[in-house]
Amino acid sequence: MLNTAMKPKGQMADNAMTRLEEAFADDMAQVNALIIERMQSPVGMIPDLASHLVSAGGKRLRPLITLASADLAGYRGDAHYKLAATVEFIHSATLLHDDIVDGSPLRRGKPAANTVWGNSASVLVGDFLFARAFSLMVETGRLRVLDILAGASSIIAEGEVRQLAAIANLDLSEREYMQIIEAKTAELFASAARVSAVIADLPDDKEEALDRYGRELGLAFQLVDDALDYVGHAAKLGKAVGDDFREGKMTMPVAKAIRCADPQEQAFWIKTFGKTRRTDDDLAKAMALIKRHKAVEATLEQAAIHVRNAKQALQCFAPGKTRALLENVCDFVIERSV
Ligand code: IPE
Ligand code: IPE
Ligand code: MG
Ligand code: MG
Repeated sequence: MLNTAMKPKGQMADNAMTRLEEAFADDMAQVNALIIERMQSPVGMIPDLASHLVSAGGKRLRPLITLASADLAGYRGDAHYKLAATVEFIHSATLLHDDIVDGSPLRRGKPAANTVWGNSASVLVGDFLFARAFSLMVETGRLRVLDILAGASSIIAEGEVRQLAAIANLDLSEREYMQIIEAKTAELFASAARVSAVIADLPDDKEEALDRYGRELGLAFQLVDDALDYVGHAAKLGKAVGDDFREGKMTMPVAKAIRCADPQEQAFWIKTFGKTRRTDDDLAKAMALIKRHKAVEATLEQAAIHVRNAKQALQCFAPGKTRALLENVCDFVIERSV
């Protein structure tokens, strides 16, 4: 067997995710059972559509963060299962809605639910999953948890709406982009970690630290995801590459390439984002410009800063196995790009 030092980087990172999954496999089995139980309904289309998405897998990264954070916080009880399921339900609901908004054909390696059942069914089942998420968290009896996850849900929606409003806006600053991804992605990661501190009755500074951990990890995660939209592989990602470009979404790789553009390149970006449809040739040209200006590399460097911040946030917890698992999964977020 290869020792860790000899393994290719990507494989090492995959192992960090695998180790987290393995460490919490029993807990995750309970969460998955809860997810399946709570997505049932006598209205057959609901479980059909929901299980199309849920049984396709997904990394379950957010509920794993909730479970590991609860362990790090020394929590002894079973409310964290409900919270982990809540977090995955919120995530799943946003994916159903997001794929309609983004016109994405593929999710988790399968046709996106809206391409099978249509947009209306996907919207409504997304609403159902949101509602089930709220029922689950109410069962924990913790008002603070409700406050955090209800707040996160509205912030995610605000992020998605801000992003929609920023379609084809070449003037979107990197700062505004970071605000959008903090809302649409990092807020749920932050909440996934923070709620575990709440149920464990940790002091405020530790609760803040777990929030910071999730937030920084979420920022890194979305930066990498946006880089992968230009350089990733559909087979590995389980979703189409180039979706963001076709949609006219202003993401960090584009923002960075535009910042370095000469007048001719500027003209390309203005013309291309001004059109209602972007062709495969447009995408190939955009990819070439992104490559020329090393915009993906710059995006990944920025993600690496947030990964360092995430690890730093955990320093107030005693070192140990769970802290190491949470630290190492930060590397997975970056290295899933190689
Ligand atoms: C997809 O999240 C949405 C983003 C925030 C980029 P994940 O990549 O965690 O999706 P699954 O759950 O593993 O499919
Ligand atoms: C995912 O955002 C949806 C939310 C975070 C709410 P993206 O649109 O960037 O993610 P993918 O690429 O579809 O997974
Ligand atoms: Mg999308
Ligand atoms: Mg994306």
